[in-house]
Amino acid sequence: MALSDEGATKVRMPTEINRQWLLAKRPEGKVEETNFRWAESAIPTPGDGQALVRNLWISLHPTALLAMAASESQGGIPIGGVVGGDLASQVIESRLPGFGRGDLVVGFAGWEDYSVIDGQGFLPARKFPSDIPPNLAVGTLGVTGMAAYFGVLEVARPHPGETFVVSAAAGGVGSVAAQIAKIQGLRVIGIAGGKEKCDWLANVVGLDGVIDYRSEDVGQRLDELCPDGIDIFFDNVGDAVLDEALVRLRRNGRVVVCGGTSRYGKDPGPPGPKNYLALSMASGRMEGLLAKDYLPRFPEAIAAMRGWIRSGQLKSKEDVVVGLEHAPSAFARMFARANVGKQLVKIADPPLPLRPES
Ligand SMILES: NC(=O)c1ccc[n+]([C@@H]2O[C@H](COP(=O)([O-])OP(=O)(O)OC[C@H]3O[C@@H](n4cnc5c(N)ncnc54)[C@H](OP(=O)(O)O)[C@@H]3O)[C@@H](O)[C@H]2O)c1
Repeated sequence: MALSDEGATKVRMPTEINRQWLLAKRPEGKVEETNFRWAESAIPTPGDGQALVRNLWISLHPTALLAMAASESQGGIPIGGVVGGDLASQVIESRLPGFGRGDLVVGFAGWEDYSVIDGQGFLPARKFPSDIPPNLAVGTLGVTGMAAYFGVLEVARPHPGETFVVSAAAGGVGSVAAQIAKIQGLRVIGIAGGKEKCDWLANVVGLDGVIDYRSEDVGQRLDELCPDGIDIFFDNVGDAVLDEALVRLRRNGRVVVCGGTSRYGKDPGPPGPKNYLALSMASGRMEGLLAKDYLPRFPEAIAAMRGWIRSGQLKSKEDVVVGLEHAPSAFARMFARANVGKQLVKIADPPLPLRPES
């Protein structure tokens, strides 16, 4: 299976087989075609406490690289095991209490047509009402949006008029964080790589300023766009840009450590930020977040974000690759920095009518 960006235009609906992606070899630094192996097996049967689901959409997270690279003793995916992740699926047959045939669920499943789930995983399986499309449920209203929502509102705790800078601003989390910050009345500057992303951020999202780190000097542009410094830096990348932001932090400034895509898969990792002492001079705060810690409050965030999507204040940008067979190439796109918006893979449409919320 070639790691091409070309998605098939039509989703094949397999009948008797379960197409799967297995982990063939642990990635060393970067993801390649040879890390994965295509397999076909029988559709599994759920036991007590399990449900058989038809997988519909995969939400790809850069952190999945860590689970592929880690040894089994460190909690990594076994070699030869099905690559797993964050998926939207439909329940086909259930022996799992609380889940019924037709339910739309988001949670841990495999890069495969059908999975047997037990409702557990990094996050427990969550049911979504039938009026939320599965791509939205697993994308902007999934972990991606939750990291953005709670990172901005709970970790950064913004005040209207403050200056907010976000890295990987055209990515899944970054684009949502930037828009939530705008909704809160902040002045938002996005940093992204390439003209297409920067044009989208400036002209469609309407950010107050954009910096193309590939063609511009980030420090110089931050000085121009944030002459009084930065109140909040929302970091998804964790490289030299973090250092540039740290030295421009205003008094009581905050750095939200959401992710560090530039560091994933690097062993040993590069040295940490050299300008961290700026936190002392600014009485600043650098704080991480793990979206799953806010699980009990996901419904609140989903309700707020649905409202913003309906009113047009929040654009849910998706970068969709169609076809399970293209999942590895879709994953590699994020590390090639090609995705604009949330990187998703469409596997199939729901085979059954979606069951209204129960
Ligand atoms: N804390 C949490 O609970 C939580 C939850 C979800 C995600 N995250 C983290 O949030 C971050 C964003 O996740 P996402 O799913 O929205 O992914 P994303 O930002 O859409 O991911 C890919 C983007 O990262 C940038 N990038 C990739 N490799 C890079 C490198 N080597 N150096 C610099 N930039 C690179 C590229 O954008 P540009 O070239 O435009 O910068 C690329 O398009 C990730 O670090 C992820 O692990 C955290």
